[in-house]
Amino acid sequence: MTTQTFPVAIIGSGNIGTDLVIKILRSDGPLRVAAMVGIDPNSDGLARASRMGVPTTADGVEGLMGLPHFGDIRLVFDATSAGAHHANWATLQPTGVRMLDLTPASVGPYCVPVVNLDEHLDAPNLNMVTCGGQATVPIVSAVSQCGIVSYAEIVSSISSKSAGPGTRANIDEFTETTSAALETVGGALRGKAVMILNPADPPILMRNTVYCLVDGDPDHSAIERAVTEMVDRVNAYVPGYRLKQRVQFETFSVGNPLYIPETGKFTGTRVTAMLEVTGAAHYLPSYAGNLDIMTSAAKATAERIAAHSIETAGATA
Ligand SMILES: NC(=O)c1ccc[n+]([C@@H]2O[C@H](COP(=O)([O-])OP(=O)(O)OC[C@H]3O[C@@H](n4cnc5c(N)ncnc54)[C@H](O)[C@@H]3O)[C@@H](O)[C@H]2O)c1
Repeated sequence: MTTQTFPVAIIGSGNIGTDLVIKILRSDGPLRVAAMVGIDPNSDGLARASRMGVPTTADGVEGLMGLPHFGDIRLVFDATSAGAHHANWATLQPTGVRMLDLTPASVGPYCVPVVNLDEHLDAPNLNMVTCGGQATVPIVSAVSQCGIVSYAEIVSSISSKSAGPGTRANIDEFTETTSAALETVGGALRGKAVMILNPADPPILMRNTVYCLVDGDPDHSAIERAVTEMVDRVNAYVPGYRLKQRVQFETFSVGNPLYIPETGKFTGTRVTAMLEVTGAAHYLPSYAGNLDIMTSAAKATAERIAAHSIETAGATA
């Protein structure tokens, strides 16, 4: 039996793109890095990729399309910025190559692998939401299995050192894309996302707090079980992802409602989950779990797409 490979390219030679290249090169799955693409010929990411034997170009997406083996590439990861992704997609879409978008551009449908990957295996452009979304949407989805989540709010804190210029240019897009994914993928009726860039030195680990307001009096142990199972499933591809403490519950009765500025009085249960993500330190040190949660989700997604694509080609051959 021959083991088929799936050639991929990565656009963006910053924090996310470089972490992703290293992750793929260190794994033994079907993905093969056929190109690393940047616009800065002096970037550390392009130099590292080149040292690791990956073909590189500093001429952006045009440079990628000019590579002699461009026709072999099956999937292109975009780790630039939301604005650059719109331009990259406009250029690449006519070639028929698929894109997996690690920026919060929201061109394609949102993908959080443990929740909805199988719905999108043939999407030409798939959006991986945000680091905060990959960390928190699974938890909201788990709570939604046990009751109506009328509101979900998440707060993601990452170290300033791990947020490159591309991330800093995309704070608004982070907020909008993560909020939308809490609703469309997580199942919350309303979602809100907040990101904190923390300049503390030594740098802090990625932390995420998830609040879900669940109508009525749901089964606490069922929620705790669903959240714990979901954490285990994410942990299977992001080993540093874990609950920082047990899931917390607080009940608000008619006589003691929770006041929400936008919607008024809430009666029901507030579920709080606190998560921490230690990185694998493939590129930046282990505090940068925010890189891992995104690049591991993207790699897991691409591997599943590769397997599906190879199976489908085999079935029609
Ligand atoms: N850093 C994080 O924790 C994190 C996590 C998840 C998602 N993201 C998203 O990933 C994207 C990249 O973030 P980052 O922190 O790696 O930023 P970064 O600034 O470190 O990296 C972006 C890279 O893209 C390159 N680039 C810009 N325009 C380009 C183009 N047209 N063609 C080729 N290369 C181009 C830049 O030169 C830079 O090397 C952002 O959209 C961000 O929101 C970041």
